Amino acid sequence: MKHLLSIEDLDRAGIERLCDRAASFAEVADRPIKKVPALRGRTVLNLFYESSTRTRSSFELAAKRLSADVVNFAASGSSVEKGESLRDTVQTLAAHRPHAIVVRTPWAGASKLITQWTDAAIVNAGDGQHEHPTQALLDIYTLRSRLGSLDGLNVWVVGDVRHSRVARSLVLGLQTMGAQVTVAGPPTLVPAEIAVLGCDVRYTLDDLPQADVVYALRMQNERMKQAYVPSIREYAAEYQISSRRLGARQLLMHPGPVNRGVELAGDVVDGPQSLILDQVRAGVLVRMAVLYEVLASGGGPSSPPDGPPDGPERRRRRPSGGRDPFNNPELHPA
Ligand code: NCD
Repeated sequence: MKHLLSIEDLDRAGIERLCDRAASFAEVADRPIKKVPALRGRTVLNLFYESSTRTRSSFELAAKRLSADVVNFAASGSSVEKGESLRDTVQTLAAHRPHAIVVRTPWAGASKLITQWTDAAIVNAGDGQHEHPTQALLDIYTLRSRLGSLDGLNVWVVGDVRHSRVARSLVLGLQTMGAQVTVAGPPTLVPAEIAVLGCDVRYTLDDLPQADVVYALRMQNERMKQAYVPSIREYAAEYQISSRRLGARQLLMHPGPVNRGVELAGDVVDGPQSLILDQVRAGVLVRMAVLYEVLASGGGPSSPPDGPPDGPERRRRRPSGGRDPFNNPELHPA
């Protein structure tokens, strides 16, 4: 995998492979020193044109835990404010020869465009209302860790689908993994065209009890150019997920940030059925796996070859032999 631009870049085997790799990194998070040398000598540039808490911090942590050098670029405070274009900004930063660029922009398709301007591996961390593939991967990872498999799982995605880049990647990714997906919300926020992705579309929550997993989406006020709901109170009355609506066996997810009291009632956010913080933790692991994979296939073999032990990290090699991602000689040459 050279780039990760869309969840459609991955088939089921590819998603499974990334989840397995993420699981193999889980142990690093429990170490006193949370670092492995897998990407030593590699540079990862985080290029963020939009605000972000979870995605940006987890990409940064992921790169650092793999021992890559990390440069964080935020559009605010940069020459973007002086009118520098996306292309000039990318080409300027690419002069530092990063191996990977993680990019979030308000423009659909921007990450794909950037692949034409640099040799670096590009990872889409959200492009406008289009896609957010690593979010879908971490959501799949979270469910897989909890349930083992997504085959036959019934997932309802509820809320502002229209303005959500999470929705598109999530619906496609969940279906690839064998889940059945229903999207639900008011007609103004759930475009009928979303059905082309193969999901069911509902405008009421009457059948919500059928869901195994309820995935709420944030009301994305910053993207709205007009009023899509009569009032937040009326929206909440019809579509808010609260302990009244969430059945005892249902799991709750949300990509964050949550608008408490709008799409979710506070009690369910902090309740025992909520996987929201598991999703955040999974974000670091899955992004480690993605960075590892794009840098491995761009600059070395994707399956680490066997090699003689030559240092403390090598001595930790697992009995599984050449598939230990922490010990790829190509990625941390002596
Ligand atoms: C999402 C985003 O920014 O696209 N959040 C995230 O990445 N964790 C969803 C959102 O903002 O609602």
